[in-house]
Amino acid sequence: MSTDPMGTITGLLTETRRYPPPEDFAAQANINDPAVYERARKDPEGFWAEAAELLDWDQRWEKVLDWNPPWVKWFVGGKLNVSYNCVDRHIKTWRRNKAALVWEGEPGDERILTYQDLYREVNRAALMLKNLGVQTGDRVAIYLPMIPELPIIMLACSRIGAPHSVVFGGFSPNALADRINDCEAKVLITADGGYRRGGIVPLKENADKALEQTPSVERVVVVERVGRDKHPVQMREGRDIWWHDAMAQVSGNYCPPESLDSEHPLFILYTSGTTGKPKGVLHTTGGYLLGVALTTKWVFDLKDEDVYFCTADIGWVTGHSYILYGPLAIGATSVMYEGAPDWPDKDRFWDIVERRGVNIFYTAPTAIRSFMRWGPEYPAKHDLSSLRLLGTVGEPINPEAWVWYREHIGGGRCPVVDTWWQTETGMILITPLPGLTTLTPGSATRGFPGIEPDIVDEQGNSVPRGQGGYLVIKRPWPAMFRTLWGDPDRYVNSYFSKFGPTVYVSGDGAKQDEDGDFWIMGRLDDVLNVSGHRLGTMELESALVSHPAVAEAAVIGVSHEIKGQAIAAFVTPRAGVEPTDELARELRQHVAETIGPIARPDRIYFTAELPKTRSAKIMRRLLRDIAEGRVLGDTTTLTDPSVLEEIKQRYAASE
Ligand code: WT7
Repeated sequence: MSTDPMGTITGLLTETRRYPPPEDFAAQANINDPAVYERARKDPEGFWAEAAELLDWDQRWEKVLDWNPPWVKWFVGGKLNVSYNCVDRHIKTWRRNKAALVWEGEPGDERILTYQDLYREVNRAALMLKNLGVQTGDRVAIYLPMIPELPIIMLACSRIGAPHSVVFGGFSPNALADRINDCEAKVLITADGGYRRGGIVPLKENADKALEQTPSVERVVVVERVGRDKHPVQMREGRDIWWHDAMAQVSGNYCPPESLDSEHPLFILYTSGTTGKPKGVLHTTGGYLLGVALTTKWVFDLKDEDVYFCTADIGWVTGHSYILYGPLAIGATSVMYEGAPDWPDKDRFWDIVERRGVNIFYTAPTAIRSFMRWGPEYPAKHDLSSLRLLGTVGEPINPEAWVWYREHIGGGRCPVVDTWWQTETGMILITPLPGLTTLTPGSATRGFPGIEPDIVDEQGNSVPRGQGGYLVIKRPWPAMFRTLWGDPDRYVNSYFSKFGPTVYVSGDGAKQDEDGDFWIMGRLDDVLNVSGHRLGTMELESALVSHPAVAEAAVIGVSHEIKGQAIAAFVTPRAGVEPTDELARELRQHVAETIGPIARPDRIYFTAELPKTRSAKIMRRLLRDIAEGRVLGDTTTLTDPSVLEEIKQRYAASE
């Protein structure tokens, strides 16, 4: 492995600040016995089987793990229902009147659903799905803003065993259509719109465009979030129905939860890979729920009396696992916020923390870097003394941001857990346990109990401490994805072939320091991480070449102070096309429309040619060197090294 994608890891390993768990925190922590690591290492299956007592099973499993590499089944023969575990079982206890979801809309409206309220809504929504013809096994696509109907419908899907596929509301009609078509969803749940920075995201219009090319969809349910007076939408007779009308047609308040096999598909969530086509990551029932429940309890030290706030969007895996399924499985109170962090002002999160008395707060490094830039006066305006634990996820966090977060948000008293995981892993895999782990700013520290991460070289041999390599996981874990929807070969080839079928290849590079702590360096493949969002370079390139003015394009990620990585595109226009600023703007807009605003390139560089090897491979590494102002690496394999000079000059001119 030759590159260091973040360009910083060598410096990071010299970080000397250490934060052992505060004594009082450790004393009350959900997990504070260090023997747990050894216990899980010696007998991982026994460890997970014991942990599985966290869930209510209709039928006990016969076998904990059935491992036929790379294929795995967990809790074979076991039966359970996710919505039963997240809702029904809690209403049989004192938690019945406890807040399950504390929802806050961007304009300031709010809705608090107790477990009892949620029970009623989920049951009725499940009956609504049945009325619409949805049966166990049918896929339901969901394209909603962050409103209560989103977790309600996800739980309703899980109740009847209809796998959901949530598509982030920031995706374009095209991206939505691709995802719907890939999983052949029968029903789409959307809204008339959603609020973002005071504006309205036109979800129904987007959905209408997508629906022109999605033959599988029979019915569309539309939540009235914004209102007909403010934002009228088209309803197609016979296909579209308002959520409130469909719910009003439901008779009864109880839909029996399906008793589902442990391996029954729970959801499909699309994520970017190295080819243009997004991957449909499939998660199943028993193992997934156990993995997210246990990590929520141990990593976030979440207790019954806590108020927990994760700022992610449920359209991403963080929201699935750590706004909805993990917290609700353990009967927690989860705060859900619809809008932007800087609306109406840059203290919105701190305002929420103060008003709701949030104890545990989970966000992304890109957000923390924005808070830093906005200045400490915004959190300082609020009483944040309720906070007792902070978390981060999504990208490597630079030690400065980590320390700032600890000081200015955590008041110097809260442990900060840097949690490494992925859409594919379903649950947090590398993380501190806040009552046990001495923290080093910038490091995700170590494998969760029962998880066996390692760093290997090109041959698959473990590397010595201090040396970089491929981050792999050497044993299955319950919440791991089971396949890529409709593409088992890609599952095997992308994740389980480089080092054989027993070794999961994460796609990230990492190092271990002398203490054995893991430092994640970022992606080693052609996947970018822009503000914690995963984007494939190929997806971006195909979006660019779908524009008539473009002959060829190469996309790279460039280090960016706030976003982690920014998108830089090198574009060769078609013959006769003038490379103007106007065209650059048009291309950026074109990508935003094709994939979604998160994919809008930060910069476009026009060039007459792209640097290629004799076998016609684009040398992205060299483009990265140019974009980040480094001395060029080895150029001897290029067909025409002068191409680089030209690009370099252009780059310098446009700086
Ligand atoms: C990629 C997965 C898992 C929820 C959000 C992203 C990067 C994630 C960390 C971390 C360094 C991290 C990795 C990973 N990543 N968490 N704590 N430190 N990098 O899920 O979209 O599937 O992206 O995010 O590069 O491969 P995702």
